[in-house]
Amino acid sequence: MTIHDTGGWTATDDVILRIDDVAKSYGPVKALRGVTLDIRRGTIHGLLGENGAGKSTLVGVISGQRTPTSGRIIMNGQPLERVDVKAMEEAGVFLVTQEPMIIDNMTAAENLMLGIWPVRNGLVDWKALRADAARMLDGSGIDPAALAGRLDAVARRKLNILRAMFSGGTVIILDEPTAALTVADRRQLFDFMRRLKAEGVTFIFISHYNDEILEICDAVSVLRDGSLAGGSEDVRAMTSEQLSELVLGRGLTLFQRARRDHAGKAPAISLREVRGRHLALSALDIAPGEIVGFTGLPGAGAKELARAIFGLHPARGRLTMNGVETGLPGDPRMALDAGIAFLSDDRRRDGAVGQMSIGQNIALSSLPSRARFGFIDRAAEAAVVSRYFGAMGVKSPGPEYAVDTLSGGNQQKVCLGRVLATDPRLLIVDEPTRGIDVGVKQDVLRIIDALSNTGVAVIIVSTDTDELVRAVDRVCVFGQGDIKETLTGEDITVERLRASVQA
Ligand SMILES: Nc1ncnc2c1ncn2[C@@H]1O[C@H](COP(=O)(O)OP(=O)(O)OP(=O)(O)O)[C@@H](O)[C@H]1O
Ligand SMILES: [Mg+2]
Repeated sequence: MTIHDTGGWTATDDVILRIDDVAKSYGPVKALRGVTLDIRRGTIHGLLGENGAGKSTLVGVISGQRTPTSGRIIMNGQPLERVDVKAMEEAGVFLVTQEPMIIDNMTAAENLMLGIWPVRNGLVDWKALRADAARMLDGSGIDPAALAGRLDAVARRKLNILRAMFSGGTVIILDEPTAALTVADRRQLFDFMRRLKAEGVTFIFISHYNDEILEICDAVSVLRDGSLAGGSEDVRAMTSEQLSELVLGRGLTLFQRARRDHAGKAPAISLREVRGRHLALSALDIAPGEIVGFTGLPGAGAKELARAIFGLHPARGRLTMNGVETGLPGDPRMALDAGIAFLSDDRRRDGAVGQMSIGQNIALSSLPSRARFGFIDRAAEAAVVSRYFGAMGVKSPGPEYAVDTLSGGNQQKVCLGRVLATDPRLLIVDEPTRGIDVGVKQDVLRIIDALSNTGVAVIIVSTDTDELVRAVDRVCVFGQGDIKETLTGEDITVERLRASVQA
């Protein structure tokens, strides 16, 4: 398929996009401090950096979504006069956001055409357009006639990329695109990107996963605190350790839990005969101080069981905590009262409240337990807030700032702080380090480890095999709603986990 012309540029004009001394401030916060960067035509350019380093801000500027305080964008050698979304799309630069802008009750082909409808008002050759869209979907594995609402996560993400191309995109920006994808999905997305790259599309790719960067990127640039801190034109010659060092500006010591065997201990929590959609669990016991990993393919039951224990997924079954048998909690309030805390993987849906301050967010779930006679104990609240604001290393001038002003990874830290502040007996965290940078990831795993050492039972739901290997005592691999295999001790390896999940 040929979608875009090269505009008469030849191989010598190899810089397609130059970011020239771009700065961006939000009040006192200097998100970008004069970044100059070249993106070469037909490459996949990785953009790395710690949480809050300025990655999303930079691609926001490049795509015209955020107005820079100063600086220029130069496309194909031409400085752009206007840098807004329309101008950048016309120049061929598209930002594919995390939340696909897809209309569910239209077909895949119609969704592709959506991008160019407004551009060509007047004389539209619908038939030709439809045929073009179908041709473009050919080979993508997406049925042009399929309703978009029926498509899975990868297909939706691909559809977004395709729409960007269909609308004439030559530079496509992906800000943490693999966040909700399975290993197989990720592979598919990468194959797809490589194919488009071979056709001349340029990608800017943001990720916190070194293995992804090493696999897919040709070049990388690293932002640190709003400035360009380094980069490489030859990523393939680099190791994961070198990448981490480039990002952090120092070496990284990976966390590894000293795994313990909890067999034979009286359980902190017992589950029996849990039934619900995607759930058919016979039995599971978790000891105090034990960290158990839940993993499996989507719909296999790992996520569903975790949500059911917190009253977020409808299910029936028996739950025994501290010797008292009840049913599963009917809603999160009941679960919290029982000493269960939950961190959702979906920040947008059950996550931080954007307009509220960081401090209010941290205190949110634990407020009722500290309210006496209906009055909130302000001193206790302030203590909790400052403790978790500090412990999580939230990058912000202070807890009084709105959560909206935080970078993605820092919002995740606030959510985790809020959950920890409830002082739970059972802590359930779903993808706790998704979107969090390599350095903070170690801190988060250490915090969970330390909490378990005080006797808290922990469930970590994760598709990040590396995280499971380093953080848990035991892994339950789910299939068809039940635990199909349990790995402990030396058996918890990346290879064993991958094999077991796919089996
Ligand atoms: N609307 C805003 N108001 C105030 N400050 C903001 C706003 N948006 C971003 N910032 C600040 O700008 C800085 C850079 O944020 P940005 O979202 O670009 O980081 P990031 O590198 O994408 O991080 P992450 O890996 O966590 O997604 C952060 O300090 C953030 O708090
Ligand atoms: Mg970001």
